[in-house]
Amino acid sequence: MAKSKTTFFCQNCGAQYAKWAGQCTSCKAWNTLVEEVVERGSKPPLWEGEGPSKKVAKPLRISEIQTGNESRLPSGDPELDQVLGGGFVPGSLTLIGGEPGIGKSTLMLQTAIRSDRKTLYISGEESQGQIKMRSERIAAASDSCYILTETLTQKIFRQEEALRPDLLIVDSIQTLHSDYLDASPGSVSQIRECTAELIRYAKESDTPVVLIGHITKDGSIAGPKILEHMVDTVLQFEGDRNHVFRILRGLKNRFGSTAELGIYEMQANGLHPVANPSQLLLSQNRESLSGTAIAATLEGVRPLLIEIQALVSSAVYGTPQRSATGFPPRRLNMLLAVLEKRAGFKLAAKDVFLNVTGGIQVDDPAIDLAVLAAILSSNADLTIPSDWCFAAEVGLAGEIRPVPRIGQRITEAEKLGLSVIFVSSHASVPEKNHAIDVRRVARVEDVVRSLFGSTP
Ligand code: TYD
Ligand code: MG
Repeated sequence: MAKSKTTFFCQNCGAQYAKWAGQCTSCKAWNTLVEEVVERGSKPPLWEGEGPSKKVAKPLRISEIQTGNESRLPSGDPELDQVLGGGFVPGSLTLIGGEPGIGKSTLMLQTAIRSDRKTLYISGEESQGQIKMRSERIAAASDSCYILTETLTQKIFRQEEALRPDLLIVDSIQTLHSDYLDASPGSVSQIRECTAELIRYAKESDTPVVLIGHITKDGSIAGPKILEHMVDTVLQFEGDRNHVFRILRGLKNRFGSTAELGIYEMQANGLHPVANPSQLLLSQNRESLSGTAIAATLEGVRPLLIEIQALVSSAVYGTPQRSATGFPPRRLNMLLAVLEKRAGFKLAAKDVFLNVTGGIQVDDPAIDLAVLAAILSSNADLTIPSDWCFAAEVGLAGEIRPVPRIGQRITEAEKLGLSVIFVSSHASVPEKNHAIDVRRVARVEDVVRSLFGSTP
């Protein structure tokens, strides 16, 4: 028997080495190199029979190539379609990553059972009975949804050939293995090999394939970056497991924009698209509390109003504590320094805690002003009216800077019945009669004055 060829792979980043070493020179992780068999004998064919139509590619003028939106396969889920850019593209590979328990399997299973196209859902993680139980929680299954529990790619392709589905879903890529390799499922070489086989299948049969992928502790898709390069679309499903919101974001999309995003709510009967997220994010109790301010932010291209809460109290220990949930801590420190230097607030001996409600991570700088207002409000123990909101960035010199798409933010605040929005005096507010009072501020001092009447 021919000797198997082996290589050492870093399980963290996927780098290859001829020899074992303690540390991966590429990603600097320790003890991550594992020996894997990279090939064994001759490669078996994907299909035993003829296989799907073997197309022979030939060069075409770009003007002759046929495209069109009509060729996309709608998923039946408006949020998912929006993120994909109009539905699944035939022959494409889509990877959905996310933390365990976030709802990846639920999202894809509900797509499968609601679709009237022939869909094959392959699970290497749950039995057919378990999937049936899960589907019963969600909706009545359509007759065109097939479930297969199988992890060997060659057997999967045999079933495909018999069934010829319109859409193939694989849950998850880390559980698959190919006969061609000896390495264990989930190892870098298996993931790469199985993905390559699935790409070949997708391209030859023109079937869209969706892969579910696990992510590692640090948030990247497990098995390696290479997976992200191989597929056409990478979607990330994220959210806080303790909150009901889930956000589906495009990280890479060869056929659409990555600015789109889908917002879902996890309920007892599956994931439901959220049409008006701002309404859910603002607390229902509209009586004013000190330390609370509303920010008009954008998630991708969607305007979103979220509540910022701050708590400022005298430090018990020598070094004051600074803690932020959903907001970068460095930015919080910067805003506190601006308040100290430019507006004369003595916050150096205070503990400051900040929380963005709804379990959402915000990286839009436009929430700066709301953060600042919440801190000021908690520090002075004075309330900000619950129908005021803020949309501006704060600069190091204490200047209030304009943010993009201000018109959209104002419209969203207006729609939710807020009465005042604070924007930068340099913001280019669209000329029209707003029902909401648009207040322009130039400096931090102006904000303090408008909120509390005077500077301390
Ligand atoms: P799941 O789809 O299994 O997550 P993943 O595949 O990303 O690991 O999600 C499971 C979680 O969702 C689980 O904690 C239970 C919850 N859930 C609901 O709240 N409602 C439902 O209808 C279903 C099916 C799951
Ligand atoms: Mg799952």
